[in-house]
Amino acid sequence: MSAPRHFLDISQLSRADLRAILEEGHRRKRARAGWSKAKRDEDAPLDGHALAMIFQKNSTRTRVSFEIGMIQLGGVSIVLNANDTQLGRGETVEDTARVLSRMVDAVMIRANNHQDVVDFAAASDAPVINGLTDLSHPCQIIADLMTIEERFGDVAGKTVAWLGDGNNVLASFVHAAEKLKFKLRIATPANYALRSQEIAAAKAVGADIDVSTDAQRAIAGADVVVTDTWVSMGDTDKDERMAAFPPFAVDEAMMQRAAKDALFLHCLPAHRGEEVTDAVLDGPQSGAWDEAENRIHAQKAVLLWCLGKL
Ligand code: CP
Ligand code: NVA
Repeated sequence: MSAPRHFLDISQLSRADLRAILEEGHRRKRARAGWSKAKRDEDAPLDGHALAMIFQKNSTRTRVSFEIGMIQLGGVSIVLNANDTQLGRGETVEDTARVLSRMVDAVMIRANNHQDVVDFAAASDAPVINGLTDLSHPCQIIADLMTIEERFGDVAGKTVAWLGDGNNVLASFVHAAEKLKFKLRIATPANYALRSQEIAAAKAVGADIDVSTDAQRAIAGADVVVTDTWVSMGDTDKDERMAAFPPFAVDEAMMQRAAKDALFLHCLPAHRGEEVTDAVLDGPQSGAWDEAENRIHAQKAVLLWCLGKL
């Protein structure tokens, strides 16, 4: 059996595979414009295929986009709350992987610890998809890149400003920056910077990334403005975070500093009045709702890539 194609991090994809996934997402979205949500795509390429999803953390978008995506592709999906499985009673991730990969064609995992997803993948004969960990959120970034390309045609040469926490979603943007040749301007509080090895690794392969603690500098003239919650799932230092992050909030005055037609993105869920104001999230520059819908099209493309259909 050939090695399965796992989707663990954007940094592990070739540029050609990343482009193929994005093109497939755009193509399938266009092909079903106006259709009812659970109607199958004409080719139903995953007819006869099953996806298992394991959640150690909450989810709305990831769960629904993969479930609806599998329906549209003609397959079926099974959702497992990790605590309801034997994982919750101590069965190892490796043994769980060995069993599930005998039963289903692909597995998506949302895990507390990134290493668990890596270990699961190493023991799995079926492709494994990272549905968010403490370290990264690659599925999200496929949808974000699709949303940027819908607005601007191409992300190459564009300036993406990240304001806020140096978190899992930012790490996946960093992984994509060099592959798609966009500039990344990051501003985080000093104590909440992304791990320096992520930045160093991206710069070593030629990524154009600027890191500072100055939100106004990062956003100046940016084409795309991105933020995320100040308190991610698993963070335990909420009080310290709420004190450190207000200078990084994206409100209308902050957006004024970006390019005139700048696109605002947020992976959601948003904490209105904290990292973003209602006026920005609900305003004309917000792409957050397209971005949420694009999770479906992105996930479908990722599944097809993992299963050797691209
Ligand atoms: N953006 C995202 O992954 O949302 P969920 O946590 O709702 O899946
Ligand atoms: N950074 C957030 C993303 C949620 C989709 C978290 O990890 O909670």
